[in-house]
Amino acid sequence: TNSLASQLIQVHEQAVTLYHHVLMNTKLGQPALEYLKKRGLTDETIEKYQLGFAPGQRLLKPFFEEKKTDFKLLRKSGLFSENDSGDIYDRFVDRVMFPIRNENGKTVAFSGRLLVKDPESPKYLNSPETEIFNKRKVLFNLDSARLSIRKNDPAILLEGFMDVISADQAGIHSGIASMGTSLTDQQVYDISRITSQVVISYDGDTPGQKAIKRAIDSFANNSKVAVKIVTVPDGLDPDEFVRQRGADQFMELVKHASSPIDFELQFMKKQYNLESEVDVSNYISEALSVIAKEPSPITRDLYVNKVATEFGVGKELLTSRLVPLIQSNQ
Ligand code: GTP
Ligand code: MN
Ligand code: MN
Ligand code: MN
Ligand code: MN
Repeated sequence: TNSLASQLIQVHEQAVTLYHHVLMNTKLGQPALEYLKKRGLTDETIEKYQLGFAPGQRLLKPFFEEKKTDFKLLRKSGLFSENDSGDIYDRFVDRVMFPIRNENGKTVAFSGRLLVKDPESPKYLNSPETEIFNKRKVLFNLDSARLSIRKNDPAILLEGFMDVISADQAGIHSGIASMGTSLTDQQVYDISRITSQVVISYDGDTPGQKAIKRAIDSFANNSKVAVKIVTVPDGLDPDEFVRQRGADQFMELVKHASSPIDFELQFMKKQYNLESEVDVSNYISEALSVIAKEPSPITRDLYVNKVATEFGVGKELLTSRLVPLIQSNQ
């Protein structure tokens, strides 16, 4: 068909080809290609993801003008910025280009990464919302990952594009990522349609750990998906971990992934000074309110035991404080 959406997709496919050509075959693309190689990506991976480079000069505009592509269509594509007098110019300049595909494998947007750090400019720049791109709906790599997810089950929810690409290259094909925003209800729903198990592995830094907490809540409130959590050690992100220690080590972490309740208890514990009795007491109170949310009485009992043993507190006392918390959750 010749709908607006299919025309916009066609413009994107042409841009993919052009950015990729610049990366692979031109002098302008050389620094970007070296950068990607230095980050461990092989030619095969660069081809599979059709990575590209938007050079520091006009590229798309003259290309599409020459092809006499409809100006209104270009304005709607999100590939151009516009000044006050209505002139358009390339939105992506001096960036490594990651095509963003929808669930049907069609490119509907780009994310461009700065080659060189620039405090004035965001590290990743995404396409704006368009007729064909809603960043709250797209999951990076879902079209490709869904095949492995169906076969081997859990989806592996990672933080960034490079985490997904690097894991895929290393043999972990079920990685997906949201668009740098926190996970939306729509994305949780889309994941729940293809699998009943998700392993979340965001960056080992504080923002990553906080985002895991939000993602856990989002799955719990909006789906029946069973969630497990991998905390990447030493503050690394999954990309760095896989490159330094390999896919097998990462899958070992996946095998021993924590339950949400374990993750939450660990996460909370870090915020207390357990040398201080006041803090221990506060931690135990907060731990009980986490345990109270657990629907299974057996699991609750296991965790009450754990906390009682860990701090040498009476189990009966903890249970008596847990009961009203459970009731107020019902
Ligand atoms: P590298 O630095 O290339 O390894 O990327 P990363 O994936 O490790 O980046 P980071 O952990 O900082 O961010 C995770 C994800 O958040 C990225 O993959 C992007 O999707 C998104 N993100 C990061 N920085 C920005 C930004 O400046 N703007 C926007 N819109 N998104 C960003
Ligand atoms: Mn190619
Ligand atoms: Mn991060
Ligand atoms: Mn990274
Ligand atoms: Mn990261």
